[in-house]
Amino acid sequence: METELQRLKGAFVAIISHELRTPLTEIITALELLENGYGGSLTEQQRGYVAIAGRAAEHLNMLIGDLIAFAQLQAETLETRREPTDLAELVARVVEQHRPRAQAKQLTLSFSAAPRLGPIPVDRALLTRVVSNLIINAINFTPAQGCVSVHVAPEPDEVRIVVQDTGVGIAKEKQARLFESFYQAADPLTRQVGGLGIGLAYARRIVEAHRGRITFESEEGKGSTFTVHLPLK
Ligand SMILES: Nc1ncnc2c1ncn2[C@@H]1O[C@H](COP(=O)(O)OP(=O)(O)OP(=O)(O)O)[C@@H](O)[C@H]1O
Ligand SMILES: [Mg+2]
Repeated sequence: METELQRLKGAFVAIISHELRTPLTEIITALELLENGYGGSLTEQQRGYVAIAGRAAEHLNMLIGDLIAFAQLQAETLETRREPTDLAELVARVVEQHRPRAQAKQLTLSFSAAPRLGPIPVDRALLTRVVSNLIINAINFTPAQGCVSVHVAPEPDEVRIVVQDTGVGIAKEKQARLFESFYQAADPLTRQVGGLGIGLAYARRIVEAHRGRITFESEEGKGSTFTVHLPLK
């Protein structure tokens, strides 16, 4: 019963997401045309308004992306297309993608990887989302001047991707529910950063589809460490 409800929720979200995204894509395209001068040259003020609309549209687009991810999360099986992958390279690329966001918050973002890591069969697009979600969380939940460090390390029978931050941490009593979809440790109405509360649920689903697991350690006020364990066999 529960799973049927979950499935319906997933199908519903998939339809909504599609219906929302189509017109939004048109809005974004039109704004880009304006920005690039296809409607004639813009005054400084017009440029400013177009930029505001553009940022809001991108934010909406991101939220819809999250809803689509949620719909996928509810699907019976998560299809993975695994290819032998240089994990250090994949993770390094994701880290660089988020560097501007970290810089904007004056956070130190560092990356390291053990040398000579053999190729690991993973679904690159999905694993990119996992690492991305963890890094975004680390950045979002770490106050300015803090540190986020990402590390790729081989172990005898697994590879670990570790995302560590010196951020706000998670209270002990909230830790058990962290991976539930739509769960957020801070009150969604008062918290500073937007989001739906599905990043970790989705990340766990993807990692489990790779037969791996995600663990974390966190102390309130001190920071958190999330670790993705991917089995080598
Ligand atoms: N690195 C972290 N430090 C502190 N709290 C965290 C961290 N990562 C996750 N959390 C807590 O766990 C909750 C759930 O995380 P999750 O990524 O699933 O959702 P979200 O980041 O709130 O939204 P979304 O990822 O859907 O945009 C967060 O709202 C936050 O309270
Ligand atoms: Mg998140």
